[in-house]
Formats: sequence, structure tokens, C-alpha cells
Amino acid sequence: MRAAEVGDLAGIRAVTFATDQSEPGSGADAAYVELIRSTGTALVAVQDDRVLGWAATLPTPHGALLTDLFVDPVAHARGVGTALLGALWPTPSARRRYTFSSKHPAALPLYARAGLVPSWPLLYVSGPTDRLPLGVLRVDRVDAGAAAAAESRLAGGEPRPGVFAYYLSGGEAFVVRDRARVIAVGAAQPGDPAVLARLACPDPGAAAGALFAAVAALGVDRVAFCLPGPHPALRRLLAAGFRVDDFDVTMRTPDVALPIGSVYSPGLG
Ligand SMILES: CC(C)(COP(=O)(O)OP(=O)(O)OC[C@H]1O[C@@H](n2cnc3c(N)ncnc32)[C@H](O)[C@@H]1OP(=O)(O)O)[C@@H](O)C(=O)NCCC(=O)NCCS
Repeated sequence: MRAAEVGDLAGIRAVTFATDQSEPGSGADAAYVELIRSTGTALVAVQDDRVLGWAATLPTPHGALLTDLFVDPVAHARGVGTALLGALWPTPSARRRYTFSSKHPAALPLYARAGLVPSWPLLYVSGPTDRLPLGVLRVDRVDAGAAAAAESRLAGGEPRPGVFAYYLSGGEAFVVRDRARVIAVGAAQPGDPAVLARLACPDPGAAAGALFAAVAALGVDRVAFCLPGPHPALRRLLAAGFRVDDFDVTMRTPDVALPIGSVYSPGLG
């Protein structure tokens, strides 16, 4: 096992495709892997120069996020995943760690052994925007620096301009205001459906309004995003024709408090 290098990008991409993860914001996306490598810790497990698996962590406002843990199916159940996770997180009692676990039967037990406990499901939803309430809050486009500063003020932690710059290559970043006060900050990427990649909104009382305002401001017919099962807008989304396409299970150390009114990126927090 060693730190991931630029020369590993093709191998990481191959493992990512082999485990059916090919979307943007995954190891199939060189810009994403470069962002993780430059701002977090990324490891590869190699045998004879071949990448068998990769894993990474990233600092976020809520603690250290395990962004990825993927092992080539030809090498499953041989201890590679356990070894990668153990190298990143050697101490099961360490604080402030979390991840969004897939439903793969080996994933959740691995994280439980590493000291994390299961919490709410992170729902991958998508749907049409035409039956959603129109947002009454103001949404302003901002650059990566302003978005990162706003997120840091709202959610805590160090500003992460690199994360917003990643979304801004092709996408947009924005703040949602209630009069002059910023109540949420987010980013979106184009596509069909468009993706609301993140929306930090620590106040659950403001979360539904902020989400509807952000979606309305995108001006798209269909949108996809990942939100906590207890999010206050879930029932209205389902009533408006949204579907739950998939879900992850949030795994966290007990000291991590993830706001239920935010929209999360499984790979960037
Ligand atoms: C999840 C994943 C990373 C695990 O990697 P791996 O190298 O196969 O895992 P390991 O061999 O180190 O360990 C698997 C452990 O899970 C255990 N396990 C497997 N299925 C289990 C089950 N249903 N219940 C309990 N434990 C289970 C195995 O017994 C093994 O433990 P052991 O070594 O004590 O026997 C790998 O399966 C993978 O890439 N899956 C597809 C992608 C994915 O979903 N990744 C997780 C992203 S959140």
C-alpha cells in the first residue's frame, strides 16, 4: 500500500468501473481524484504494479470523511479493503470520522469494525421540478472563494475553495439568502438530470425552503441529489413525483453531527 500517484489514475479508474461506479465525482473522474489527492489522503493497494483497490479520506466541516473504498472484484474477500481502511484509520476509537456506506454486504461490517455506527440513510433521489413549490428565497451565484467562505461560516471548518472550484468547472456555486442573511450554500452540475451536488443548510427549519429555492434557481426540468432520510422536504418531494433511486447508510463516530437539512455529496461531504 502506498500514497496514490498521478500514474495510478488509470488503475483507479479501472477499479472504479469494475465496481460499477462510473459517474462524475468518482474514481472514474481524474479531476475528482486529483482534488482528493491534493486536499486529502488517497492510498492505493498494488500488486505487481496493478492497482487492486483505492481508498481516501478528506477533511470536511463535520470531520474526516472516508470518500472512497473500492477493491477490484477479482481481489474481494482477501483483506485488501480491511488493509486500506486500517492504513487510513488505524485507531477504532479516533473521533470525528464518517462515511456513506454502500449496501455491499462487506462494506457496513468493515466500517462498524473501524468504530463507526450506522445512522440515517442517505437517499439518492431524482425527479421533475415542475410540481415543486417555487422558492421565495433569493439565490445568488458566487465564485469558489465566496462559496467556500460562506460554507465555512455556516457549517464550520476550514474553507474548501478547491471543492467549489471542482464543481465550477462546468457547474455553478450559489448562496441562498433570507433577506441579507445567508442560510445555505450549494453547488450544482449540468446534466440530464442536473445534479444539485451539495447544499449546506445547518438550520433544519430553513432546509425545505432553501432546497426548493436552490432547485428553482437551477431552471432545469429534472434534478437529482442526495438527502438525509429525515430531511424535512422528503414527503413533498415524493408527492411531487420524485423517486428514491438508491441509498447509502451513513456511518459515523457518535460525536459527528451531520445536519439533516443539508444535501450531501457521498464523495465530498
Ligand atoms: C466493500 C469492499 C471495499 C470490501 O473490500 P474487500 O477487500 O473485499 O474486504 P476484506 O476482504 O478486507 O474484508 C471483508 C470482510 O467483510 C466480511 N463480510 C463480508 N460479507 C459480510 C456480511 N454479509 N456480514 C458480515 N461480514 C461480512 C468478510 O468476512 C471479511 O471479514 P474477514 O476478513 O474477517 O473475514 C469491496 O467489497 C468493494 O469494493 N465492494 C464494492 C464497492 C463498494 O461497495 N465499496 C464500498 C463503498 S462505501
